Amino acid sequence: MTKITAAITAVGKYVPEYVLTNKELATFVETNDEWITSRTGIKERRILKGEGLGTSYMAIKAAQDLLKKSNIDPEDIDLVLVATATPDLPVASTAVFTATQIGAKNAFAYDLQAACSSFLYGMSTASSYIESGRYKKVLLIGADKMSSIIDYKDRATCIIFGDGAGAVLFEPNTENLGLQDEYLRSDGIGREFLKIEAGGSILPPTEETVKKGQHFVHQEGKTVFKYAVSNMADVSEKMLTRNNLKEEDIQWLVPHQANKRIIEATAKRVGVGSDKVMMNIHKYGNTTSATLPLLLADYENQLKKGDNLIFAAFGGGFTWGAIYLKWAYNS
Ligand code: UT7
Repeated sequence: MTKITAAITAVGKYVPEYVLTNKELATFVETNDEWITSRTGIKERRILKGEGLGTSYMAIKAAQDLLKKSNIDPEDIDLVLVATATPDLPVASTAVFTATQIGAKNAFAYDLQAACSSFLYGMSTASSYIESGRYKKVLLIGADKMSSIIDYKDRATCIIFGDGAGAVLFEPNTENLGLQDEYLRSDGIGREFLKIEAGGSILPPTEETVKKGQHFVHQEGKTVFKYAVSNMADVSEKMLTRNNLKEEDIQWLVPHQANKRIIEATAKRVGVGSDKVMMNIHKYGNTTSATLPLLLADYENQLKKGDNLIFAAFGGGFTWGAIYLKWAYNS
């Protein structure tokens, strides 16, 4: 019997128009372009402006971009997953609303939350549904409106994050292209170092939690940085060794975009040069669940059928991992 693998067959993206530059940030907090550029690699990020617009606004646009480019009938989609840390509403999934808005009326839908690893974990989930043989078209969207949970007076977080969305379609493949291997991990020790304190079941919202700024993301940057560097590099290296891949077998490293220095450390351990590393952190910052699909959309024209891609991510929780995927089409 022919083995069924799960391949990415289409991509789409959306970023909001508003560009928040380092220069503008320096008018809210004590920082400067030189510090942000040298410590993170970020020059600007996109911010979703407009009353009543949430994460689904961007998820819908990214999905519509994919549908338009690939000429796919939304009624053929079986499942819509939205990977996000910033759902539209605490209850009532962003994916369900998104699926309905794009006309995927034969699909079921739900959200996935694993901070900056949401999309990576989502790739595993989407692929498993395809490999099972039960579903033929799974739309995975990574979308986050990070500006909705950022304190623009906190220079440890506001310089890093931005808003955006990307989408990919997974379909069955019989040429052994698509997802080849995965190594996913998590460790609850991370909850202390990167979190939103209030608004959940432990500390529901009160006037006091709002006053204390406990609904914003708080991170101990240095600690998160150390864990990110060692874990992202470890899992990426593991992907190569356990699949008998040498550096020259890898066409692209697709790393989560949190900090250019974390990306460079991962690339160094994998042994690939900067020409093989996808990077768009300078223009979007860290868009959490959207970083990986935005990279694929930005680099789609350079990808060739059969290319070996190593995805790696690290995020709050802690959550992290790597995926080895063979690209399935030429643009
Ligand atoms: O997406 C998944 C999770 N997130 C991450 O992976 C983020 C991981 N962390 C980081 O990327 C980095 O830790 C940051 C970019 C957040 C901070 O960079 P850092 O190199 O770790 O800086 P630091 O916190 O160690 O601070 C170094 C210095 C300090 O000054 P002193 O004590 O040396 O005088 C800070 O007060 O830089 C100062 N500083 C700043 N200066 C200008 C900290 N933030 C800023 C800033 N602008 N925005």
